[in-house]
Amino acid sequence: MEPGKQSEITKLAVVGGSGLFDFDGLQVIGQHRVETPYGKPSAPVLEGEVEGVRMLFLSRHGEGRHLPPHAINYRANIAALQQLGASHIVTINIVGGITSTMGPGVWVIPDQIIDYSWGREHSYSDGTGDVTRHVDFSDPYDRELSEKLLQAAHAVGLEPVVGGTYGCTQGPRLESSAEIQRLRQDGCDLVGMTAMPEAALARELELPYAGFCLVVNWAAGISERMISIEEMQRVVSSNMPPALVVMAKLLA
Ligand code: HPA
Repeated sequence: MEPGKQSEITKLAVVGGSGLFDFDGLQVIGQHRVETPYGKPSAPVLEGEVEGVRMLFLSRHGEGRHLPPHAINYRANIAALQQLGASHIVTINIVGGITSTMGPGVWVIPDQIIDYSWGREHSYSDGTGDVTRHVDFSDPYDRELSEKLLQAAHAVGLEPVVGGTYGCTQGPRLESSAEIQRLRQDGCDLVGMTAMPEAALARELELPYAGFCLVVNWAAGISERMISIEEMQRVVSSNMPPALVVMAKLLA
């Protein structure tokens, strides 16, 4: 969405990462098996209700969470949501914290991205069409939607950190301590593996896109302790349930 352009959320699509679909507050009404010019999305797109509010849901890692971040068909995912009439996309990401205010259990609404991923199909302009689109990406996350997301989070009693730079790494391994030091020097506050090329593809399709990030661990070398996958899972399980209610409040 261009800066300054106001837009009503007519159909919200939520793209979720690990953990989200364990939440049983979602009442599934239907499933859409979508084909796009870029192939199939990660999973059937669910149409469901949370607290009586209807939305689309897409599990980024697929049913059974089999897709690692570099193997996700981001182009098909975003195109499928557009085909189903999504007007806005909010993504729920699990991330590692780099900046001291962004420790495990903290929600963050980031406003910037640095992309360290590679080898992913990252644009709809792939040389097969007539035109190459150079979209503006100064603000990777839609400001108006991020502001609405903040209000919705407040309505549920959450106090997310506002603003922050998401460094998107390739995965699926976590980073080395030296890589995190480099990200920190570059200005990254958070590290995750899935915001890109998702955010850029949404921009190419002119779909306003915002991120709701849950910090589940200190990034490598930030804390003296080893990163424990069990601990990360615990933070996800205890913090994820309100996230879908926040999505419902976006439309309330
Ligand atoms: N690095 C990258 N992605 C992540 C991390 C991390 O430390 N934690 C959760 N997702």
